[in-house]
Amino acid sequence: MTPADLAQTHAAAFTQTRPWSESEFTDLLKQRGMILCGDAQSFLLGRIIGDEAEVLTVATHPNHQRRGYARALLMQFIAQARTQDVASIFLEVSEINDAAKPLYYNQGFRKAGHRPRYYDTTDGGKIGADILRLEF
Ligand SMILES: CC(C)(COP(=O)(O)OP(=O)(O)OC[C@H]1O[C@@H](n2cnc3c(N)ncnc32)[C@H](O)[C@@H]1OP(=O)(O)O)[C@@H](O)C(=O)NCCC(=O)NCCS
Repeated sequence: MTPADLAQTHAAAFTQTRPWSESEFTDLLKQRGMILCGDAQSFLLGRIIGDEAEVLTVATHPNHQRRGYARALLMQFIAQARTQDVASIFLEVSEINDAAKPLYYNQGFRKAGHRPRYYDTTDGGKIGADILRLEF
C-alpha cells in the first residue's frame, strides 16, 4: 500500500470534503505512532501516542463499500489501542457524514465536542466537524 494508493482511494471515497494528497500521506506516514490498517481498497490510518489514540482517516473505495471493511478495521484499531493501555480514542468527523457517524457510534464513540468550519468542502466551502471519543 503506497501513499499513491492511499490518496487514490481517499479521493474516490471522499466526495464531500477535500481528499488528502499523496504527499500528505507520505508526510503523515513518517510521523511518530502511525498505524496503517487494511489495504488499498479500504484502509484506516490511526495514531497511538502514550495513552491517547486518534483515528486520522478511514476510507473504503466506493466499489467496496457496505461490506463491513471499515467496521473490521475500526475494531482492529480499537483492539490494538486496548493492548497498548490507551485511555481513549478520539476522531473528527464531518457533521454531515451520515455514513461514518453510525460506524463510529455503533462501536461506542460519543460526541465530545464540535469544531465549526473545520473542513474544506469540495465545492470551496467550509463544514463543521464533530469530535467523537471512545473512553475505555
Ligand atoms: C464511512 C466509510 C469509511 C464506511 O466504509 P464501509 O467499508 O462501507 O463501511 P462498513 O461496510 O464497514 O459499514 C459499517 C457500518 O457503518 C455504517 N455505514 C456505512 N456506510 C453507510 C452509509 N452509506 N449510510 C449509512 N450508514 C453507513 C453502517 O452502520 C454500517 O453497518 P451496516 O452495514 O451493518 O448497516 C465509507 O463510506 C467511506 O469511505 N466514506 C467516505 C470517507 C469517509 O467519510 N470516511 C470517514 C471520515 S471520518
